[in-house]
Amino acid sequence: MDMAINSPIQRDVGIYIHVPYCRTLCPYCDFVKQRSRGQAPEVFTDALIREIGAYDGPALAQSVFFGGGTPSLLAPRALECIFATLHRRFTFAGKPEVTLEANPDDVSRDLAKTWLDLGINRISLGVQSFHEATLRHLGRRHDAASALRACETIASLFDNWNLDLIFGAPPIEHWPDTLARTVALRPPHVATYGLTYEPGTPFERRRDQAVDDETWLRLYRQAEEVLGDYEHYEISNLARPGFQSRHNLMRIIPVSARGPTHSSAACARGTTPRTTPTSPILGGRKSVSH
Ligand SMILES: C[S@@+](CC[C@H](N)C(=O)[O-])C[C@H]1O[C@@H](n2cnc3c(N)ncnc32)[C@H](O)[C@@H]1O
Ligand code: SF4
Repeated sequence: MDMAINSPIQRDVGIYIHVPYCRTLCPYCDFVKQRSRGQAPEVFTDALIREIGAYDGPALAQSVFFGGGTPSLLAPRALECIFATLHRRFTFAGKPEVTLEANPDDVSRDLAKTWLDLGINRISLGVQSFHEATLRHLGRRHDAASALRACETIASLFDNWNLDLIFGAPPIEHWPDTLARTVALRPPHVATYGLTYEPGTPFERRRDQAVDDETWLRLYRQAEEVLGDYEHYEISNLARPGFQSRHNLMRIIPVSARGPTHSSAACARGTTPRTTPTSPILGGRKSVSH
C-alpha cells in the first residue's frame, strides 16, 4: 500500500504543520519551539499561510497533522485561515484525517467543539503520565486531574483520539498504574515514548538517571501487555482496529518549503523536527510518529 501511495502516478501527500510555540518548555524536549505567553502569534499564522500559498508540489492530500510545539495554542481564527488556505492549495482525498496535538490544560469543552466544527477529526493529547510525581519530574504544566479531565472531554466529542505517554521517567513504579488508567479511558490510539535525554536540553545533565536497556524493554513490554487488545503497529504506536493513524502510515514525500530554514520542512521518517530552528513548516510528512 505504501508503494501505491509513493508511486509517481499516485503521489498523495500527508501535510505536516509544525507549531513551534509552548507556554512552558519541558526540560527533556528538544523539538523546535520557543516560549509564548499566550496563543501562537499572528505573525506565525501569516507566514504559514504565505508558505502554504507558495507550495507547488503534489496536491492530493490524505491527512493533515498539526504538531508541535503546541498546536492547541493556535487561535480558532488562525486555524480557520489555515484551513481556507489549505483548501485552495490541496485537494483532499475522501475524508482526510486531520489531527491536532493538544496539551491537556489547553482543552476545554468549548474549544474542543470549535476544533470539531473546523474539521479537526483527531486529537492527540500529550498526557505523558497520570501521576503527579512523574508529571512534575517532566516539568509538565498540567497535573493528573487536568489530564483526566481533558481525556474525558475529548473522548466525549471525538471518535478518534490519541493519548501520548512517556515511560522510563522516575518514579518508574507508577508506569503500570498510568497504563491501567489509560486502558480505562479506552482511547482509540496510544503512543508510548521512552524518555530520552537529548543533547542541549536540561535533561542532558541527568543522563545518569536514564533506565538501563533491560528496564526500558520491560516497561515497553508492560505497555504491550496491558494494551493487549490494541495492535502494536509501529514501534511507539498502538491502535484499536481501524484506528491506526493515516499520518503515521504514510511515508515521507519531501516537498519544497520556503522560509529561512526550509531544509527542515521535509524531515526523514524516524527523525524529529528537533533542534533545527525553523520557519513555519509545511512539510510532506511529520517525522515523529503519533
Ligand atoms: C514534542 S511533543 C508535542 C505535543 C505537545 N506539546 C506535548 O508535549 O504533548 C510530542 C510528544 O513527544 C514526546 N517527547 C518529546 N520529547 C521527548 C523525549 N525526550 N523523550 C520521550 N518523549 C518525548 C512526548 O511524549 C510528547 O507527547
Ligand atoms: S514536550 Fe510538548 S509542551 Fe513540552 S516543550 Fe516539547 S513541544 Fe512543548
